[in-house]
Amino acid sequence: MINIVFVNKKLKEIKADIELVFVVNKNFNHQWIKDAQIFDFLSFSGNEDEVLFLPEKRIIYIGIVNATDDNLRQGAALALRKLRKTKAKSIKLGLYGHENDFGARALAEGFYLGAYQYSRRFKKEQERLKRIYLASEFYNSRATDFSAIKSALSVGKVIAQSVNFTRNLVNTPPSELTPVELVVQARKMARENGLTVMVKGKDFLQKQKMGAFLAVNRASSYPPQLIHLRYKPKKFFKKIVLVGKGLTYDTGGLSLKPSNAMMTMKMDMGGAAAALGVIKAVSKLALPVSIDVILGVTENAIGKDAYKPDDILTAKNGKTIEVINTDAEGRLVLADCLCYAQEQNPDYLIDIATLTGAAMIALGNYTAGVMGFNEELKKELLSAAVVAGEYCGTLPFNKFLQQKIKSKIADIRNIATTKYGGAITAALFLAEFIEDKNKPKWAHLDIAGPAYVEEDWGVNSFGATGAGVRTLVSFIINIVKKHNNK
Ligand code: BES
Ligand code: ZN
Ligand code: ZN
Repeated sequence: MINIVFVNKKLKEIKADIELVFVVNKNFNHQWIKDAQIFDFLSFSGNEDEVLFLPEKRIIYIGIVNATDDNLRQGAALALRKLRKTKAKSIKLGLYGHENDFGARALAEGFYLGAYQYSRRFKKEQERLKRIYLASEFYNSRATDFSAIKSALSVGKVIAQSVNFTRNLVNTPPSELTPVELVVQARKMARENGLTVMVKGKDFLQKQKMGAFLAVNRASSYPPQLIHLRYKPKKFFKKIVLVGKGLTYDTGGLSLKPSNAMMTMKMDMGGAAAALGVIKAVSKLALPVSIDVILGVTENAIGKDAYKPDDILTAKNGKTIEVINTDAEGRLVLADCLCYAQEQNPDYLIDIATLTGAAMIALGNYTAGVMGFNEELKKELLSAAVVAGEYCGTLPFNKFLQQKIKSKIADIRNIATTKYGGAITAALFLAEFIEDKNKPKWAHLDIAGPAYVEEDWGVNSFGATGAGVRTLVSFIINIVKKHNNK
């Protein structure tokens, strides 16, 4: 575990194994840059993400275009990744940002996120890096607001640690992180953060007539779990309900996935894990909103009892669903969970899911898809994503795609009659389970692309990213800010 230590000293007064210097906008003419004379010889030009590590001088230079939050966040993570193989125990750097919290939150996020590695399966490799010393001296010699920086650092730490919690859940192998084990982990996190937990099993789902969720679960050797966590501070002014897809493994069911597509499907509980990360962060930050997290948790397996293409299921709200493809299971589980979630009378209803491969085809695998009927709400999510340093794009609904999920023998089919726009038709399927009065309150986040990426990118290392946590926490922080400014 690393720790960021904010010290009331100038950079040169601090002792550390390595000094980290951001080369801002190719300006080599700054007092922190001591090796400009050899930059040219070493072909270092200070381009974005360009790294120059001078081990014998114990200094690492990283190019950033300007000191925006996101550049600092990614630069911090990149520095840690580059220094991973060294035996450095400590790093020091100065302050850079110029936005309201001076980039301190972003730097903290970058360091804590960049230090993350899911490597506990290896023979214990010592985590050597322990401390990051942040000097109180600014790059552009502005005055330092100590309390603003300290609180920004602690917000950044809470957020990053919640993201890392989500990453751990998603990275855990599927035979270990079973539905039952996800309940254990959710209870543990709830206990540590004073949250209420309700876990509902098969009997409850049967009583509630959640025929879609139950069908997906049928071939699994583990019972279905509907996990409901609640954070309810004494004073709150908005009620937010988050619904997460928690498929601890998605084989595709009888519409079996080909082996290469099945690989990585341990990530199919990424939405549920992200929702858990959000409630963890929001409760740690003690924000004045109430949060209900509702997770539909099961495996999508095969076996003699598996639900079948051709089956017709009845969801909690009475709508009938013709099963065309058992691999479109997430929407079935979410359909029933969304019905249950609306009984909580939310002000905001947001579901988060690794729902469709089509979302990655539409947006690329670094970007989450945002969908819903409320343009304002979607915009707020997009701008929260920008602040958080995550990529989100909206995918628009239209009535013609809506018609493509009509069935001849039931109310709807679980996949559309067109192969185009699959992320949108999946969201339109979910919309069938949103009551009219809740349509403006609802948004859907498809994180199939960014939840798990098999390379290092930005603040992420190979594997689970914790996608969605930072965006949703920033979204909730913005709701609170807007309320406080009224
Ligand atoms: N869990 C998958 C979606 C997914 C794909 C997530 C790739 C992450 C990476 C989902 O349950 C699924 O299988 N969707 C199908 C839908 C199809 C049958 C209409 C898909 O995207 O191929
Ligand atoms: Zn599937
Ligand atoms: Zn799935």
